Amino acid sequence: MTLLFNSDAERGRVFREAFAIALPDLAFSTDAATVDPQDVRYLVTWTAPDDLDRYANLEIVFSIGAGVDQFRIDRLPAAVKLVRMVEDGIVRMMCEYVALAVLALHRNLHTYFDQQRKHEWRGIPQKQAAARNVGVLGLGILGSAVLERLQPFGFGLSGWSRSPRAIDGVHCYSGQDGLKSFLEKVDILVCLLPLTDETRSFLNAELFATLPLGASLIHAGRGPQLDHQALVDALDRGHLSGAVIDVTDPEPLPPGHAFWSHPKIILTPHVASVTQADTAARAIIDNIKRHRKGQDPIGLVDRARGY
Ligand code: NAP
Ligand code: GLV
Repeated sequence: MTLLFNSDAERGRVFREAFAIALPDLAFSTDAATVDPQDVRYLVTWTAPDDLDRYANLEIVFSIGAGVDQFRIDRLPAAVKLVRMVEDGIVRMMCEYVALAVLALHRNLHTYFDQQRKHEWRGIPQKQAAARNVGVLGLGILGSAVLERLQPFGFGLSGWSRSPRAIDGVHCYSGQDGLKSFLEKVDILVCLLPLTDETRSFLNAELFATLPLGASLIHAGRGPQLDHQALVDALDRGHLSGAVIDVTDPEPLPPGHAFWSHPKIILTPHVASVTQADTAARAIIDNIKRHRKGQDPIGLVDRARGY
């Protein structure tokens, strides 16, 4: 029985050591060329390889990342489970990134960056945190952790998900019925939705128009969820006041794209959160142990929902 690891060499080294201690009966390979395909039960990878069919006894594909939109789920054999990455390192880094971005927008950092470039010394009247609402799209592993991390700052907090959720200290909305009421009260909108057919182009002109005047956006979900031109228009008209963007479509952005130099946009190159090898190895080991006991792995993707 073999686990085939298809990611970078440094992560592979950490995984190999952790697996040798925790699951010594499971062979660990980083080399698809020399492994016997019949032996491969588990595959750790970012995308499905074209020759996936050769692994006739494959049971689980583990995504090395939290997102699974890069897989063509419909092309995975029906018997193979797809599991997204749920590990403490990703959660911790996303909490840091969103806290950084919320505070940057709250304290007008993007405007001060722009003023610095123009050698302007001018303070902006500062709202208190209690006077601003932060709203998170997506109340899964990342969205709910981010909201918990934001609690001590004193912002009003809300969230929106597909199915109803209850989180202490957070005003929760759900479904299409709850979307407008949610958006109308959000000053800083954070997108942590998975990319599916339903969330593609979700951050569009209509959504921006529903946000209050002066609202801002933090986008750390997936690039194709954002209509780039709609964001630029909303910023240029002054309806939105700023944005922190970590994911775009395409990545990287082409030379000359408006986001590179827009004075109201802080751009980062898809670095909000990165899988950490030690905690990720632990998470996959625990999931293989669960699977061996007949339990569903944590992060099992629902093929019908697409996340
Ligand atoms: P998750 O645990 O699966 O949570 C997804 C949340 O989104 C759930 O609350 C879900 O609602 C909600 N949702 C999905 N489709 C929806 C829809 N159509 N309408 C309303 N709500 C919807 O996922 P996660 O682990 O938090 O990760 C979220 C995403 O973050 C990933 O898919 C990935 O794209 C992105 N990400 C980005 C980075 C980065 O570096 N930028 C790093 C890691 C992850 P229910 O609760 O009702 O199911
Ligand atoms: C990164 O974007 C991830 O999905 O883990």
